[in-house]
Amino acid sequence: MKHQWWHEKVAYQIYPKSFSDSNGDGIGDIRGIINKLDYLKDLGIDILWLSPIYQSPLADQGYDISDYYNIDPRFGTLEDLDELIAEGKKRGIGIVMDLVVNHCSDEHEWFKKACEDPDGYYGKFFYIEDHKPGQPLPCNWRSYFGGNCWEPLPGHEDKVYLHVFHKKQPDLNWENPELRKEVYKMINWWLDRGIAGFRIDAIINIKKKLPFSNYPEDRDDGLSSINNMLAEATGIGEFLDEMANETFRKYKAFSVGEVFNEKDEELTDFIGDNGYFSSMFDFSTSLLGTNENGWMDPSLITGEAYKNAIFAAHKRVEGIGFLSNIIENHDQPRGVSRYIPASDLSDKSKKMIAGSYFFIPGLPFLYQGQEIGMENYAHISSLSDLDDCANADIYDALIKHGFTDEQALAQLAFQSRDNARSPFQWSANKNAGFTEGEPWLMLNPNYKKINLQSQQADENSVFHFYKEMIKLRKSAEYSNTLVYGTFEPYMQEQKNLLAYTRKLDKNMLIIANYQNDPQKVVLPSAAKKILLSNTNRSLDFNTTVQLSGYELLIIEL
Ligand code: GLC
Ligand code: CA
Repeated sequence: MKHQWWHEKVAYQIYPKSFSDSNGDGIGDIRGIINKLDYLKDLGIDILWLSPIYQSPLADQGYDISDYYNIDPRFGTLEDLDELIAEGKKRGIGIVMDLVVNHCSDEHEWFKKACEDPDGYYGKFFYIEDHKPGQPLPCNWRSYFGGNCWEPLPGHEDKVYLHVFHKKQPDLNWENPELRKEVYKMINWWLDRGIAGFRIDAIINIKKKLPFSNYPEDRDDGLSSINNMLAEATGIGEFLDEMANETFRKYKAFSVGEVFNEKDEELTDFIGDNGYFSSMFDFSTSLLGTNENGWMDPSLITGEAYKNAIFAAHKRVEGIGFLSNIIENHDQPRGVSRYIPASDLSDKSKKMIAGSYFFIPGLPFLYQGQEIGMENYAHISSLSDLDDCANADIYDALIKHGFTDEQALAQLAFQSRDNARSPFQWSANKNAGFTEGEPWLMLNPNYKKINLQSQQADENSVFHFYKEMIKLRKSAEYSNTLVYGTFEPYMQEQKNLLAYTRKLDKNMLIIANYQNDPQKVVLPSAAKKILLSNTNRSLDFNTTVQLSGYELLIIEL
């Protein structure tokens, strides 16, 4: 594996709408991010991925772009973005934008022109099919947000267009070389502006199995998950290779793909030395136990399942490339609420989960608020407390499966994407210091207890633990081992012990007791030094250590 400039970095995802509001309209903005760059620098961040800030009706919170060459005025201006790029550079922080090109917005001018002339140049940018009212649709695929994925083309009663996400997100037709050329031109325009790269949204959906056909129904709505179609779609590599050649490779840009369902034999093509992307996210845990009712698994993930999933994911790419490691993002509930039973949630267990994923090989990503241990809502009183367009489908599916209203809301409080999208908790002040105005989305009521300001003042906080982890990964002594060292699971069969070694010029062992009960661990050799502990433990053992509940140690052997 060739060394790359980004290997030793630490990345951070910003959900701009909920990060920091600079002008009191209740919506986070670019200036808000600029104001916090020193904070991010101090934390140790080098790469900042911004969820979309392009012009958008925000039907799917910016993942529905109506102008790829402009910033939505709610987030600021192009000048603000240039300033962010420049101020970032001064601090050694590269800006990574979100590339959303499986679909655009139905308010994009391409789509408007397609509606004017479906058989014309721009009509071919989309998937538009003839459809006589009352006749079956071109196929029975279910949109990711529920319902079928066809919508009448505005102004044309006899035509429908495809949207695998929201109906305001018409799919772009990648089979059309003119469309692809437009996409590459746009990517290069941004790279020329000085951004460090892109996170690539929903990219696996760009290759459809054509012609449109039905797949087996997998819910009582008579529809079939898009995944059934994707499993049969082949040939995405040609698009991705062309895109990489026309854009990222020319700039040595960093690119990280939102890739699901890739096959083993494709890994080298995706993230090898000359892959389509620099990296892709490890979604092995976010997919654990996914069921047909919605995006996510409604049940808690056990320590054993968590460990086995991340270990397997990294063994699979060993020697091939770098995965990007996360415990949460804007599409998932908060990691600490997802991976730790509510009754065991504490600073200690939050640090345990942090240390477990952070030192696995690959590029560590933090999602805003993760560094202070932000949690799920835990309680919502009505659907209107929430915002995300995916909620309604999940709610309906739960009600159909016999949940009461109260149970369905409790389930959403656990699994809704809004859990990660509530505003950043900067302080215990009004609106958690996020805005002077009315926040666009409900704050988590726990902000008086969980907020950055109080954690900055407390050296035992989750925040300081994250800072220490980042410092260790970047330290002159341990960086080489933590970035490039081998990875071996240790005592993987020992229940609720999550342990692995990292070895190169140093011999390091990460051990975590993923349960409330204490547990004894026999080390492979004598411990020399404790590099990090979530209990401030000093070296009081030699080759056998008794770990307390949720204790985590990073040890030099
Ligand atoms: C990705 C994004 C998600 C969005 C979807 C459609 O999965 O992360 O937020 O809803 O794509 O663009
Ligand atoms: Ca604002």
